[in-house]
Amino acid sequence: MRVRDAIRDLPASRIAEISALGMGDPAVIPLWYGEGDLPTPEFIGAAATAALEAGHTFYTYKAGLPELRSIIAEYLTGLYARPTAAGRIVVTSSGMTALMLVAQALVDPDDNFVIIAPVWPNIAAAVSILGGEPRLVALDPVPGGGWRLDVERVVAACDARTRAVFVNSPSNPTGWVIPAAEIEALLDFARRRGLWLIADEVYGRIVYGNRPAPSFLDQAAPEDRLIVINSFSKSWAMTGWRLGWMTLPPDLLPVMEKLVEFNTSGSPTFLQHAGIVAIREGEPFIARFVARCRAARDVAIDRLQACRRVEVARPEGAFYAFFRVAGITDSLTFAKEALARTKVGLAPGSAFGPMGEGYLRLCFARDPQLVAEAIDRLRPLID
Ligand SMILES: Cc1ncc(COP(=O)(O)O)c(C=O)c1O
Repeated sequence: MRVRDAIRDLPASRIAEISALGMGDPAVIPLWYGEGDLPTPEFIGAAATAALEAGHTFYTYKAGLPELRSIIAEYLTGLYARPTAAGRIVVTSSGMTALMLVAQALVDPDDNFVIIAPVWPNIAAAVSILGGEPRLVALDPVPGGGWRLDVERVVAACDARTRAVFVNSPSNPTGWVIPAAEIEALLDFARRRGLWLIADEVYGRIVYGNRPAPSFLDQAAPEDRLIVINSFSKSWAMTGWRLGWMTLPPDLLPVMEKLVEFNTSGSPTFLQHAGIVAIREGEPFIARFVARCRAARDVAIDRLQACRRVEVARPEGAFYAFFRVAGITDSLTFAKEALARTKVGLAPGSAFGPMGEGYLRLCFARDPQLVAEAIDRLRPLID
């Protein structure tokens, strides 16, 4: 069958390769995907049902319902140091769709995106689908298991065909949170070079300090060439809803409206009504969810650190333990073996770029006791 070369050459997901082996087996503890086990809070589901019953079943605005855009802008203004206007918000059918729209808007064939990695593989795939080159720049592992960004390496990786620098913080898979000083340095560099900055902040609320993670929205001016990606998936337990948004400079709004028209023609209207309620009433849920993740994180990290061959730091954000196991050189094979022998589903580190080889990713957004059981089962393989 003839398809475009860029599509034929797309690598299959290494996470899906593992999950396909264990899906449907009730004995498996599935910690391979980036989602928790809590269903969407009932009040959000009830709002969707009420919107359906009220007849909100028609096409709507390409950029999203004005009321949803306004409440998102208020929400962001409340969280970050600089205000965000509703005219900068475009509602999308998921964070993934937002990433794809960004790639469609910016990537010509042979352009590149410089992407800070290890990284969730879908952004690289979006660039490749458009015929561009995803150019991964590695965070530096620090002794004890943490990560650090060397901005000079990002600078060195950019050339005349670079259209954007992509940063995901808090990071999937590493949990790394970009410090404010590095946000400033990247913004400064992007301004000087006329590059776009794409900040994927879908885990911005899943942090274990007292404040939201530092955001590009704390520092950027509305006119900066900055697009911030966000999603309802993680903070409000709405992965299956496929609802997200992006914040962009006002000039880009008509461009994105045009692209939304030809991709989805707008996000489902009744879901957007529920999105309004999620933001308006969701803070207590987010607080409970993050507290549960924190408890599971501590159980996971304490147990992993007790294993002699494991190196891992306590992540500051997101809900993953990204741990290195001495002696493992093929994380995909190891993840398959771990699934077969212990019935624990992990994602192989190599799914997140070559610098992730030797690591495994475990999603701990679950009942802490289950996470503890999973690591107890894994222990004979990693101690
Ligand atoms: C870093 C990152 N960005 C974006 C997304 C997309 O989320 P969604 O498409 O569910 O909104 C994910 C999902 O796992 C993610 O991990």
